[in-house]
Amino acid sequence: MSQKQRIVSGMRPTGKLHLGHYLGVLTNFVKLQEDYECFFFVADWHALTTKSQDTDSLKENVLNVVLDWLAAGVDPDKSVIYVQSRVPQIAELHIYLSMITPQNWVERDPTLKDLAKMVRTGQDDNKSGISYGLLGYPVLMAADIMMFNVDAIPVGIDQVAHIEIERDIARRFNNIYKTDLFKEAVPKLTNIPLLKGLDGNKMGKSFNNDIKISDDEETTAKKVMTAITDRSRARKDDPGHPDKCEVAFTYWQAFADEKTLATVEEECKAGKRGCADCKRQLGCLINEKLRPLRKRRKYYENNIELVHKILEEGSEKARIEAEKVLKEVRKAVKMY
Ligand code: TRP
Ligand code: SF4
Repeated sequence: MSQKQRIVSGMRPTGKLHLGHYLGVLTNFVKLQEDYECFFFVADWHALTTKSQDTDSLKENVLNVVLDWLAAGVDPDKSVIYVQSRVPQIAELHIYLSMITPQNWVERDPTLKDLAKMVRTGQDDNKSGISYGLLGYPVLMAADIMMFNVDAIPVGIDQVAHIEIERDIARRFNNIYKTDLFKEAVPKLTNIPLLKGLDGNKMGKSFNNDIKISDDEETTAKKVMTAITDRSRARKDDPGHPDKCEVAFTYWQAFADEKTLATVEEECKAGKRGCADCKRQLGCLINEKLRPLRKRRKYYENNIELVHKILEEGSEKARIEAEKVLKEVRKAVKMY
C-alpha cells in the first residue's frame, strides 16, 4: 500500500476545456499527481442532475474533458482517471448516504440554489423543476469523496459548501454506525485567480469569450486580438496603464516569464507599444505555451481507442479500491 495521502477531484463533462480550466485546475492536478495518490474522474452522473434530457453529446463531452486532461499532462500511470458512472459502487454508497442525510441539509446548500435557478430560468431542459437527483447533488458528491476515503479534495472555492455537507455526512455516518471508517476530508483550495474571459467577464464557453486548449493557433491568435485592453488609451503612442489593461495584461501575467512581463509593462507605460502589436505577441506566446499540450491532444484524438483503454483501466482500478471501502460500509450498516 502506498503511504501517500489520497485525493479525489471531479469535473462535470461540460465539453472542451478553456485556459481558465487549464491554469486554475489542470496545472494543479498535474502537480498533485507527483505527491498524492490521485483519483480524477468525470462526473457524468452529476451532469444528469441538470441535463437529464439533453444527453446527445454526453459521451463526446466526457471524451473531450479527458482529452484535455491528458493534453495538460494528467498521467494515467500516476493518477487513476475514470468515469463516475463506470464505478457503480458510488451509486450504492450514495443510497446508504441518502438514508442518513437530513432533508434540510441538502436544501440549505447555497450552490444548489444557483443550480436550481438555472433549472427555473430554462438554461436546461428540466421543465418539471428541480429533480430528486438534483437535490441530492451534495450527497452524490459525498459518495464520490467517501468512496475512496480520501484525505483531501482539490477544488475551487465554489465547491466548498458542498464539501462542508460531505464532512457532515461522513461524521454522521461514523456516529450512527459507531465506526471510525470515514476520515474527515479537507478541501484543498486552488487559489490561482480565475482568468477573465476575453471581454472582461467570467471566462466560459456559454459567453463565447474563452480560448480553448483545443483551439488551433490561428483561432487563438484571432481571439487574443479581441481581448480588452486599457480602455482609456486612444493612440498607440499614448502612455498605457497595464494595471488598467483589463484582460490582455492579465494574460501576459499568466503566461510570460518575469523578464518579458517587465518589458511589456515598461514599453506600455512609455507609450512604446501599441495594443494591436502587443496582442499579436501575446497570441504567439500563448500558442507557444500550448503547443506541447495541443500536440499531445492531437495524438490522443488520433488514437482515441487509447483514451477508451485509459478510462477502462482507470475505472477498473477505481472499482477495486471502491469495493474495499464498500465492504466496510455494508458491514458497518449491518446489511445482509
Ligand atoms: N461538483 C463538482 C463541479 O461541478 C464536480 C464534482 C462532483 C466533484 N463530485 C465531486 C468535485 C467530488 C470534487 C469531488 O465541479
Ligand atoms: Fe495592454 Fe499591451 Fe495595450 Fe499595454 S500595450 S494596454 S499591456 S494591450
